[in-house]
Amino acid sequence: MIEVRGDLFLLATRSTSYWFAPTPHGHLEHLHYGPSLPAQDPAALRVKRDLPHGSSVVYSPDDATSSLDAVPLEFSGIGQGDYRLSPIEVAHPLGFDTDFVYAGHRLFDGTAPHPTLPVAEAGEQPDVQSLEVTLVDALAGLELTLVYTVFADVDVITRRTRLRNTGAATVELAKLASVQLDLPDRGFTIRTFDGGWIHEAHAHDRTVSSGVFSIGSTTGASSNRHNPGFLLFADDATEDSGWAYGVNLVYSGGHASSVERDAHGSVRVLSGIQPQGFRWPLFPGEAFETPEAVLAFSAEGLNGLSDRMHRFVNAHITPARYRGLPRPVVYNSWEATYFDFDEKRQLSLARQAAKLGVELFVIDDGWFVGRDDDTAGLGDYTVDAKKFPSGLRAFTRKVEKLGMRAGLWVEPEMVNERSELARAHPEWMLRVPGKAPREGRHQQVLDLCNPDVSDYLVEQVGRTIDEGGFTYVKWDMNRHLADVYSPHVAHPGMTAHRYVENLSAVLERIFAPRPHVLLEMCSSGGNRFDLGMLRFAATIWASDDTDPIERLEIQQGLSYLYPLSTISAHVSASPHQQTLRDTPLSTRFNVAAFGCLGYEYDLDFLSAEERREITDQIAFYQAHRALFQFGRFRRGARPRPDRFVWQVGDGDAAIVGNVQRGVRAAPERDVLPIVGLHPGIPYRVVAKPQRLALDRLGHLVNHVSPVKLDPSGLVMNVVSKHRSLPDAVEEYRGTGELLAAGIRLHMQFAGTGHAATLRMLGDFGSTLYVVTREDEA
Ligand code: GLA
Repeated sequence: MIEVRGDLFLLATRSTSYWFAPTPHGHLEHLHYGPSLPAQDPAALRVKRDLPHGSSVVYSPDDATSSLDAVPLEFSGIGQGDYRLSPIEVAHPLGFDTDFVYAGHRLFDGTAPHPTLPVAEAGEQPDVQSLEVTLVDALAGLELTLVYTVFADVDVITRRTRLRNTGAATVELAKLASVQLDLPDRGFTIRTFDGGWIHEAHAHDRTVSSGVFSIGSTTGASSNRHNPGFLLFADDATEDSGWAYGVNLVYSGGHASSVERDAHGSVRVLSGIQPQGFRWPLFPGEAFETPEAVLAFSAEGLNGLSDRMHRFVNAHITPARYRGLPRPVVYNSWEATYFDFDEKRQLSLARQAAKLGVELFVIDDGWFVGRDDDTAGLGDYTVDAKKFPSGLRAFTRKVEKLGMRAGLWVEPEMVNERSELARAHPEWMLRVPGKAPREGRHQQVLDLCNPDVSDYLVEQVGRTIDEGGFTYVKWDMNRHLADVYSPHVAHPGMTAHRYVENLSAVLERIFAPRPHVLLEMCSSGGNRFDLGMLRFAATIWASDDTDPIERLEIQQGLSYLYPLSTISAHVSASPHQQTLRDTPLSTRFNVAAFGCLGYEYDLDFLSAEERREITDQIAFYQAHRALFQFGRFRRGARPRPDRFVWQVGDGDAAIVGNVQRGVRAAPERDVLPIVGLHPGIPYRVVAKPQRLALDRLGHLVNHVSPVKLDPSGLVMNVVSKHRSLPDAVEEYRGTGELLAAGIRLHMQFAGTGHAATLRMLGDFGSTLYVVTREDEA
């Protein structure tokens, strides 16, 4: 809800308030962003100006205390006495100075449409309201509009900025942040999610202290280097208590964010488009509008913050056609076959996948003509008749006959030089005239600033989907932008941003008319895991790294800002192709289940025992899919860093995953709190039955085998393909309060013998605990 009382702007969500008001000179002073406050005189929240500061520049000669340097502002400028980083840099005939003062405002229901980019939508929520506050710099001929949208149901406020050239001369924009947030420091830590290929979204913490700390991406995409989303939390905040802020962008291009702690103990947060290489000329009368920034606050720690972000994404970012839609259990053939396949091989995998319970079969890279490796073929969407002699539709019909839907991999934004498309249209690639283009994975980036390229993609991809009868698309993007030049924009500095705008338009044109097609985004894994993509896609492939132990950090990092309904996670073979780590099949599933489950596995070599286990896993996931994809997610406290505890659901039912990265001798007695259950109601907690492969025990098998076995002998080899031991036979009972206090789990294996209840975790072991109400059993 938004209220304007006199000159006080009061924005309220279910549990937060956001207040600001103009200063006597017309600048917007930020007053509060935090827990809900009842409306009242805000004088106590204003920055006090008792006496002038020593060396400060004052705004007005009549007011010695009018230095802007100490005022928390909704949006600052350059050259008025505020020497913190400016959210705007625009070259106009009088230089760079900008001085924006309040001119008016407009309140309305719903969201404000964006001219070129996707923004959050109201969805089915009636209590979404927007506010536009207009500020002007009459001398520079600029009008600045701050756009606020309040999503009261999920405790999120979004912001963005519109700049209009109201003067007579052309101006050139070099920087325009989506949001500026000036907060009093509470001993903040900033948590960012950083990495690279196959190690995306690892959380890193730094204390916010004097100076500027920044993250960003200059790759043209949001990138795996630094996710655009980050957190800021108070020194006493934990997963479950304390003040925490979250910031994210509905944007898939290069971004930049910074936190700056100044000498007055104020922290300025800026977030928006990456200014490096960005220039946007504004001709008289023209406007530029930034991507939308997302703000959330929770006084209930980081889990509270994640819950708000998750509900926001599920209700206001995910396209309506996918909202609440159960994500299918997928089989993707990439790690099984790479480029080396044909219809026969794919169908053999499909038959096996169907038997295991898989619901959707995806053929990955390599299906089109010329695509036998990654050096050729991108750009040409003609099916390779050698691989699929009867065409794709005949293939997808066979997949459908097996009871599954069919999906297809595409990488439409890219082209190999060795392709028909590149030969026919060399001018369709991003490149600097006169300069040899840089390659990445043997491919070039198509110039999406060219409307002909957009039309080609819409037509080609749309036709391939329709003719092949696909109901699922994995849309990949496997290199960064370089040679960022296009003859189709008025200024080279517009290219990278225009690319993102036009990509959004292409995605909308392809997928909005095909609501039956589920879209999964991918960019060498999680190289473009952001809210901009999630305005079009149901899920994003989180990482090419499917090692469950690596995935713990990746999926946990993403979980701070993105709901599990958006995170694709697959079970793959062990030892792992990237780490050589050997992990139990149970753990590979137990980690992938906290996301949208899939298998990416050579099924030909599965043992009977593994087939049984995977069949059970899929059935288990299907039975609990609503919890895994849409249940409330919480990260448990980590008494030791090599243990991860994840909970989905609360109230009547929950599932808790307990994963151990490493074991030590005489392991600690683990305690498992399960939270959010009803007090006074009795629950039963049962470990999901899982099997311990005999060969994992090696020579120890002789402690349980009635006959002596050679651990590396033939008998052991054969037996372990058909027999396994029950693992994790655990059961606990208690009311909601008792379970929240924490179950003392059964002991772990410590070499003193074997009992059915013993937790045989070892390195990389894990258990899923299923929590149900006893009175409803
Ligand atoms: C990228 C993706 C993979 C796979 C390959 C195919 O690396 O992240 O999942 O699709 O491309 O070339």
